[in-house]
Amino acid sequence: MITVNAEKEFLRKSLFEFLRMKFPDYISNGILKLDVINDNLDNWYIFLKLDDNEFIDSFVYKNNRNIHFEIKRRIFDKFSTNCEFDKSYGILTGVRPSKLSAKIFSKNSLEKSIEFLDKEYRIPVRDSKFLYEIFINQHRCKDTFSKENYNIYVNIPFCPSRCSYCSFDTAIYNKQKATKYVNSLLDEISMYENNFSGVPHSIYIGGGTPSILEVSDLEKILKLLQNKFGIPKEFTVECGRIDTLSISLLEMLKSYSVNRISLNPQSFNEKVVNDLNRNSNIDIQKWFDIAKKIGFDIINMDLILGLPGEEIYSILESVKKAIEIAPDNITIHTLALKNGSKLYENGYINKYDYKNLLDKTKLMMKGSGYQPYYMYRQKKSVMNSENIGYSLPNKNSIYNIVMMDEVENILGFGAGASTKILDKNDKFLRNVNTKNLTEYINMRG
Ligand SMILES: C[S@@+](CC[C@H](N)C(=O)[O-])C[C@H]1O[C@@H](n2cnc3c(N)ncnc32)[C@H](O)[C@@H]1O
Ligand code: SF4
Repeated sequence: MITVNAEKEFLRKSLFEFLRMKFPDYISNGILKLDVINDNLDNWYIFLKLDDNEFIDSFVYKNNRNIHFEIKRRIFDKFSTNCEFDKSYGILTGVRPSKLSAKIFSKNSLEKSIEFLDKEYRIPVRDSKFLYEIFINQHRCKDTFSKENYNIYVNIPFCPSRCSYCSFDTAIYNKQKATKYVNSLLDEISMYENNFSGVPHSIYIGGGTPSILEVSDLEKILKLLQNKFGIPKEFTVECGRIDTLSISLLEMLKSYSVNRISLNPQSFNEKVVNDLNRNSNIDIQKWFDIAKKIGFDIINMDLILGLPGEEIYSILESVKKAIEIAPDNITIHTLALKNGSKLYENGYINKYDYKNLLDKTKLMMKGSGYQPYYMYRQKKSVMNSENIGYSLPNKNSIYNIVMMDEVENILGFGAGASTKILDKNDKFLRNVNTKNLTEYINMRG
């Protein structure tokens, strides 16, 4: 069991998350107890008990705002030599290490940045070099990002079935409910008073599975977006489940200038996919060819490493198969076991060394011409899993960079969608719509 005692709530939460990530086995086994005491001057005392190991430390620290970093550094250093734990990304626990490191890379040489990231955050050199690669690949992208730009996210929280690993707030498609939802969404979009000028940098219709909607319902949304905001440079509609596709749907999307879609196999192992409560991926090459013929510039494919029933060779086979199809983007996720998913509730336990698997896939992807251009870590997942977006040169997704590295404004529409607007001090003002579908519909009904 992990217990943290500290006077300030932010400190308690931050240290708990750090210990949870570094010593996950202690969530259910053993004793890991941390007491932090401050004498209201600048003197700090740490008492840490890890089973039979005890660590006591006292020090003077004046910058109380950053005290959590100092305590984590001290614990990290103490246990680095005599204890096995995951050192990836050092003491950072957040979702976006690439956002933080980009600020450092943009002002310093690589050598100086690596030194700084080690000194301040204990980030291993290999992780810093990977973050640098992402930084460089984002900058190689022809797009320029600006704080004046805005982007649009529209959430469609309906799916054909519930995948066993999924914890998102989505409902099984029901025509009546979906039509009511679309009406509420149209109302929200049309009532929005847009203070930004020009067209959005990108629009992303995600979920859920937007392609499950009736073509005419989806078309109403695209028509309104086009009339109200104009045509963006990048326009994505997720079509993750190929069992929802039809030629008329793809042609309609194309006619509204959608230029990026997602077809998500998750795995190419048919038995694994069926056991997830998803339909077959056998026709994915066929749909990929049709979509390319219709003219979608960028096609993304999502994969998840470590699904139940996979073995290392079959996971790597899936990556190989995706590379053979050669979509413009491949997003490699590592399975996160989250509250609200069937797998988590059934007590499924990960058995893979993700670091090792990710290293292997990084080599395969790079060897095939794919560049990592964004990454994020899954918060509150049982393993500290990492997701990496790869793209062929000049095919980076604008929206994914904006979303992960928080470089531009985002207007969110639909249940659970969040709006993030940068204020004068470069801080985001956030507003999140209710996740409750019925509540969302009734608010605008
Ligand atoms: C927001 S989901 C929506 C995609 C779409 N509904 C689909 O399933 O094809 C985006 C991606 O996140 C990944 N994902 C979802 N749940 C996950 C989990 N528990 N662990 C790892 N990756 C996950 C999947 O690869 C999924 O395609
Ligand atoms: S993984 Fe995608 S398709 Fe499956 S339930 Fe979640 S959002 Fe829906």
